Amino acid sequence: IEQPKTIVVIFGATGDLAKRKLFPSIFNLYRKGNLSEDFAVVGVARRDLSSEEFRSSVKESISNKQVSSDKVDTFSEHFHYQSFDVTNPSSYLELKDLLEKLDNTYQTEGNRIFYLAMAPEFFGTIAENLKKEGLTATSGFSRLVIEKPFGHNLPSAKQLNEQIRKAFKEEQIYRIDHYLGKEMVQNIEVIRFANAIFEPLWNNRYIANIQVTSSETLGVEDRGRYYETSGALRDMVQNHMMQMVALLAMEPPIKLTTEEIRSEKIKVLRALRPIKEDEVHDYFVRGQYGKGMQNGGEVESYRDDSNVDDNSITETYVAGKLLIDNFRWAGVPFYIRTGKRMTAKSTKIVVQFKDIPMNLYYGKGEQQQTPNLLVINIQPEEGITLHLNAKKAGQHMQTTPVNLDFCNNCIDGINTPEAYEKLIYDCMKGDATNFTHWDEVALSWNFVDPISNVWESQMATQFPNYESGSMGPKEADQLLARDGFIWWPVSDLEK
Ligand code: BG6
Repeated sequence: IEQPKTIVVIFGATGDLAKRKLFPSIFNLYRKGNLSEDFAVVGVARRDLSSEEFRSSVKESISNKQVSSDKVDTFSEHFHYQSFDVTNPSSYLELKDLLEKLDNTYQTEGNRIFYLAMAPEFFGTIAENLKKEGLTATSGFSRLVIEKPFGHNLPSAKQLNEQIRKAFKEEQIYRIDHYLGKEMVQNIEVIRFANAIFEPLWNNRYIANIQVTSSETLGVEDRGRYYETSGALRDMVQNHMMQMVALLAMEPPIKLTTEEIRSEKIKVLRALRPIKEDEVHDYFVRGQYGKGMQNGGEVESYRDDSNVDDNSITETYVAGKLLIDNFRWAGVPFYIRTGKRMTAKSTKIVVQFKDIPMNLYYGKGEQQQTPNLLVINIQPEEGITLHLNAKKAGQHMQTTPVNLDFCNNCIDGINTPEAYEKLIYDCMKGDATNFTHWDEVALSWNFVDPISNVWESQMATQFPNYESGSMGPKEADQLLARDGFIWWPVSDLEK
């Protein structure tokens, strides 16, 4: 096992992401032996805290893991804290001294990862100051990990990119899209390229449509303020959904290098048919949740959230149809949908194959056969299911649907690592394959910007237009019905 030596500096170390995802992920790496004792984590944030207090919050965040407290204690010894003002040069100089000291204590050889897990308005300032105050000039590597949102639209993303590029080269920048760290998202390419039976069919001759659904049951919880500036289109579609589409549609890379894989994804994004502002209604549906029943209790509407405007037109649901204008995909719709407060928490990809040329086995009131489907279960179940038709046992030549099922996370002893765990480890090793290149970010903004322009300039008079606990507005069904398709259910809870 490769055991990278590095210091990770987490900006926003008292925040939610650090506690929920980053500390537990680093702990898992440590517990599994992917980290030696040669690492340190420096938490920085505005708040005044001692390193001791910081360590106890780190311990708290991993306390539900069933591990010996000795291990937790030795782990937390690697954590240090500095209170920090991102606009004040002396904060950076103080940090620089601390990092140099820690290099000696932990043998980290000048390797540094600066992880920005905080409000995006400071991303550019921090990157610039890190360079200006000499924190990036070390004997080892220095990398910048940057959480989303990466801009708000193409112009703001460009501006941010220019700012951080003054301090870090493209290959030093790791833009997180945590979906790329999910086991089954990474499996898309293996399913496609390590099997002889799918790739020959993976094109417009045999595939009727592809559906990517990522539904959530939670509402905006305590993130209303951020969400009001974002909406589902920026929060989920511009990044996670479009990344999944790119992985499904890309050509086989000539090798499994970062450059080759990213360049195939970039080609897909370049082939996306742009949506003009006057076509948005034909291709995209927006929704916002009203009140409804979930888990047996009544839940309030989006607009009733205390951090949300009473007349908010922010979308909490998006469904859309994407077309990829290249030889492989011409004419095959990729449908995506994502939303909050839906029936079930589920991310699934359904590849619907075209009907057979002639159907021998139905008639006389029997049901028409269902098309073959390849379902890739991203979460919570992880696995694949292939829907086929077989003979119904008995005297008649009737068909019945049968499923071939593979469940990855049902195998005893398999505990798939959290997305963040994989991505942090990749970054420590210097593997940027599962991070988004600037070109991908730019192309996806370019695609979604006309949609948000239209939505922001037009009142959403019909909001709220779906009940909490439902599968979204009915217009999303019409979107597919117009093409003669339906959304395949993503959960048993759907009626
Ligand atoms: C985040 C979004 O990127 O992804 C959240 O900001 C969303 O709004 C989350 O809830 C979904 O991630 P996951 O891994 O739970 O599907």
